Amino acid sequence: MSNPWLAVPLAEYEQHMSSVEVRQLEVLSDLFAEAIGRCRPSSIAVLGIAGGNGLDRIDTCISERIVGFDLNPQYLETVRQRYSYLPGLELYCVDLSAQGLELEPVQLVHAAVIFEHAGVDCCLENAIEMVAPGGHLSVVLQLPSESGQKAVTSRFSSIESLGPHFSMISPEWLCKSLAGRGFRLNHQTSCALPAGKGFWAGIFSAPESR
Ligand SMILES: C[S@@+](CC[C@H](N)C(=O)[O-])C[C@H]1O[C@@H](n2cnc3c(N)ncnc32)[C@H](O)[C@@H]1O
Repeated sequence: MSNPWLAVPLAEYEQHMSSVEVRQLEVLSDLFAEAIGRCRPSSIAVLGIAGGNGLDRIDTCISERIVGFDLNPQYLETVRQRYSYLPGLELYCVDLSAQGLELEPVQLVHAAVIFEHAGVDCCLENAIEMVAPGGHLSVVLQLPSESGQKAVTSRFSSIESLGPHFSMISPEWLCKSLAGRGFRLNHQTSCALPAGKGFWAGIFSAPESR
C-alpha cells in the first residue's frame, strides 16, 4: 500500500498547518529555531523535512551542513528550490520507517512530528544513529487534545487520509527509551495549540561514545 503522504500536495499540507484552527507551522518553526539556538550545531539533519519549515532560521555561519529526509520527492524538490542558497544542503528521499541511513552523523538531529507518522522502530533508530557522539537530538511530539478531538482533522481530504496512520507517542515513553540508549534530557517545553492540542519538545544530548 502506498504511503498516504505521497498523495498530500505540499500546498494543502502547508495551508492546513498554517490555518488559524491548526497554527502548527509557525510553532514548529519556532521550536526548530529554539533547538538550533540552544545547540549551535555545525551540522543538522531534519527528519520529515516537508517543505523546509524553519530552514530560514539557520545561521549558515554556524551550520554548514544541512541534511533533509522525506519520503515525498516533490516536497524535497520544493525544498531544493526554496533553499538553494543554503550551502551544504543534502536532501534524501527515503522511507524512514523502513530504510536504514548510512550517512555521516550530524551534531543536531531534529525530529518534529515524524515519529507519529513513521513509527518508533526503524525511524527512531535512524534518528539515534544520525546523532554524532556528544551531539543532540531534538524531538517534537504532538500531545493529545484535551477535548478528545481527533489528532488529524482538516477540510482537505488528503490530510484527513493521514488520520488512520497517525499514532500519538508519549513524551514519558520517549524519554525512557532514549535514557536506555544513554541520551540525557537537557531541556523540555510544552506549548498550547488551537482546539486544546499541544506540542511537547525535548532536547537530548547523546553519549560521548556508543
Ligand atoms: C508533520 S510533517 C513534519 C513537520 C516538519 N518537521 C516541521 O517541523 O514543520 C511530516 C513529514 O514527514 C514525512 N514523512 C512521513 N512519514 C515518513 C516516512 N516514513 N519517511 C520519511 N518521511 C516521512 C511527510 O512526508 C511529511 O513531510
